[in-house]
Amino acid sequence: MRYGRIAGWGKAVPRKVLTNFDLEQMVDTSDEWIVTRTGIRERRIASQGETTASLSVAAAQQALERAGLLPADLDLILVATSSPDYLLPPVSSMIQHWLGAKCGAFMITAGCTGFVYALATAQQFIASGAYRNILVVGAEVISPAVDWTDRNTCVLFGDGAGAVVLQASDTPTGVLSFVLGSDGSGAEHLMMPGGGVADPPTHRTIDERKHFIRMNGREVFKFATRVMGHAALEAVEKAGLTMHDVDLLIPHQANARIIELAARQLGLPMDKVFVNIDRYGNTSTASIPIALVEAIEQGRIQADSTVVMVGFGAGLTWAAAVVKMGVLDQPRFALWRAIPSRAKMRARVAISALQMRAGALLLPLYARVTRR
Ligand code: COA
Repeated sequence: MRYGRIAGWGKAVPRKVLTNFDLEQMVDTSDEWIVTRTGIRERRIASQGETTASLSVAAAQQALERAGLLPADLDLILVATSSPDYLLPPVSSMIQHWLGAKCGAFMITAGCTGFVYALATAQQFIASGAYRNILVVGAEVISPAVDWTDRNTCVLFGDGAGAVVLQASDTPTGVLSFVLGSDGSGAEHLMMPGGGVADPPTHRTIDERKHFIRMNGREVFKFATRVMGHAALEAVEKAGLTMHDVDLLIPHQANARIIELAARQLGLPMDKVFVNIDRYGNTSTASIPIALVEAIEQGRIQADSTVVMVGFGAGLTWAAAVVKMGVLDQPRFALWRAIPSRAKMRARVAISALQMRAGALLLPLYARVTRR
C-alpha cells in the first residue's frame, strides 16, 4: 500500500481586508449581527489582478518550497474551485503553466467541498502507484459572484487559496480514509442561476441579477448540521479510529455556529477544533486548506497528529477525510526556505532572462548551421 503524505503546504489571501464595519456602509447590517450569527469579523477581497490562478500559484509555490520540490517534480496538479479565471481554458492549466510545471492538470468542482474531493482523488493516483508528487489546490475568488447589495449573502464570503503537495510514502500517513457525498435535490438552495449553459449570459440575466450567488441560508444551515457530524464520524470509523484518536477537526469555515454544532455532535471540545472564520469568512473550497496551513503554522498539528477535515457546500455536497500528518518538516531545506520568496522569484526571473538572451544569441548561429 502506498500512502500520500502531506509534504508541503501554502496559502495566499488578497491584501484587501473588508471588515464588518465596511459592510455597515454598504448594506443594512451591523458588526454585532454578523459576529453573533456567523462568527465573521473580516474577510479578504481580491483586487484587480488577484485571481484564482494568481492566488493558487502563490500558495502552490510555498507548498513546493516546503516539500523541497521544483515545479518540474510534479506529476499532476488538481485544482478545486468554483470560480476559475475563465470558463475556458481550465484554470488548472493556467496554474501549471505559470508554475512552470510539465505535468497534467485538471479541475474539480464540488462547491465548497471541492478540496476534500481533490485530496481524495490525488490519494488514488498515489495509492495506484501512478504518480509520486501531486499538487492539490483549493482556491476561490468568489467576490465577483457576490451580490454586494444582498445582505443575506454578501457578509459571508471571502477570497483566498490554499495548497498542499501530496507525496508518495510507504509509512501509513496522509489520507487514511475519506467519505464523499452528494445530494443534487438540494441544488436550488445554493446556486448561481444565470450565466451557465441552462441560462446563458444576456442583458436579461444580468438585469435579473442571475449571475450572483443565491442562497437559502436556513436550508443550507439545516443541511450542514445534518451532514457534518455524520460525515466526520463515518470517515473516522473507516480509518479504524474513534473520535478519541482525533487531535484536530478542520471544518469548512462557513459559520461558527455550524462548526460549534458539529463539534458538539462529535463530542469534541472546541480546543480540538480549528476556527479562523473570524478573519477570512467563507472562502469556499479554499477554507479547509487555508485552515490547515494556519493550524500547522500555529503548532496545532504535530507530526503524529490525526486530523479530520470535513466540508459541505453547493451541490449539495459534503466530504470528510482523516489525515495523518507524518513528517512535518525537512531540515535539509531549512536554508532554502530562509531565503525570502521575493529574492528566489527574482533569481528565477533573472535565470529565465539569461536563458532567453542565450537563446537569442544562439538562434542566428543555429539558423546559419541549419541553412548549410
Ligand atoms: N444583517 C442583518 N440582518 C440580516 C442579515 C445581515 N447581514 N442577513 C439576514 N438578516 C436578517 C434576515 O433578513 C432576517 O430578517 P427577518 O426575520 O426580518 O426576515 C433575520 O436577519 C434572520 O434571518 P435568518 O436567515 O433566520 O438568520 P440566520 O440566523 O439563519 O442566519 C445565515 C443567516 C445566512 C447566517 C445562516 O442561515 C447561515 O449561515 N446559513 C448557512 C449558510 C452557508 O453556510 N452558506 C455557505 C455554504 S458553503
